[in-house]
Amino acid sequence: MWAIESGLARSSPVEDPRLRCTSFGKRLPHPVGLAAGFDKDGDALNAWASLGFAFVELGTVTLRPQMGNKTPRLFRLPQDDALINRMGFNNAGLDELERRLSLRRTPIPVGVNIGRNRDTKNEDAVEDYAECARRVHKMADYIAVNVSSPNTPGLRLLQGPESLGTLLKAVVEASQDTPVFVKVSPDSTDDELKEVTDVCRSERVKGIIATNTTVKRTNLRSNAASEEGGLSGRPLRSRAEQVCKLLRTYARDELEIIGVGGIFTGDDLFRRLAAGANACQIYTAFVYRGPHAVSRILHELLERMDKEGITDLTELASRWYA
Ligand SMILES: Cc1cc2nc3c(=O)[nH]c(=O)nc-3n(C[C@H](O)[C@H](O)[C@H](O)COP(=O)(O)O)c2cc1C
Repeated sequence: MWAIESGLARSSPVEDPRLRCTSFGKRLPHPVGLAAGFDKDGDALNAWASLGFAFVELGTVTLRPQMGNKTPRLFRLPQDDALINRMGFNNAGLDELERRLSLRRTPIPVGVNIGRNRDTKNEDAVEDYAECARRVHKMADYIAVNVSSPNTPGLRLLQGPESLGTLLKAVVEASQDTPVFVKVSPDSTDDELKEVTDVCRSERVKGIIATNTTVKRTNLRSNAASEEGGLSGRPLRSRAEQVCKLLRTYARDELEIIGVGGIFTGDDLFRRLAAGANACQIYTAFVYRGPHAVSRILHELLERMDKEGITDLTELASRWYA
């Protein structure tokens, strides 16, 4: 983070008209953004553009600052190209994020991911989320409602249709014209995801961010595999892609999808866009592939598009892979 903040870690931007796309009402030079959780407090807000990201999602921010879980809480699983984290929404709180956003001078769009404090009960969560949305929506290009982190006990229960409906109504109202997205869990069943899609449509939500980390552990080789927390990276890829396809089938063109989870290569990105994502995000691939991750992924995507004779992302979006 120090190297990123100080501008030491940089990468040359990839600009190619074939990669242009639009999401959350913004024209983007390409579809790859930074996923939530890397820059929770906006410490490096003005540096992400120099690493080639087309947009960045800050947060998860909570109303009051909180420490998160005790360390160690982040584990590398290099043999699996994965991470396990149980950070628990460590963040400097809404006041501080507001202050950082007011100093914003980045050229790229900024989303803000919001959550509830660990000690706010689910019954009272609506007020936490609505207050976060009310105070940041003017400075954000979109708001992401996080109801899918596995590291705040009970949080994922807010994905149930009744709680989610009430919550989204309040957040959409508080956000006024700023588009609202909901971030979902890969561990939800297909039926639950259908319900989430229906609620999103009826509450005028702009789209869905799919997906957060998983609590499932399948076929991992690293020693740290038994650590508690959310698993991200390569082992998440196939479920995240499947969720993306499902959501696109359920929502047709009524919702946008930001695809995230296990995107490491241009092929992964190609498949996610073909599965219906309007834009994508990376986190774990940035950790393992380093400062040039975005540029490498985009060059690989262009190579694959060339090979398939695809000239732009609209054409790519019309491809559906079994
Ligand atoms: C250390 C760490 C912290 C994270 N913190 C958050 C968070 O605060 N809010 C959130 O919505 N997602 C958070 N995520 C999830 C990522 O945004 C992303 O959804 C997930 O890692 C899957 O993408 P990936 O496979 O590219 O890493 C976190 C992930 C990691 C590895």
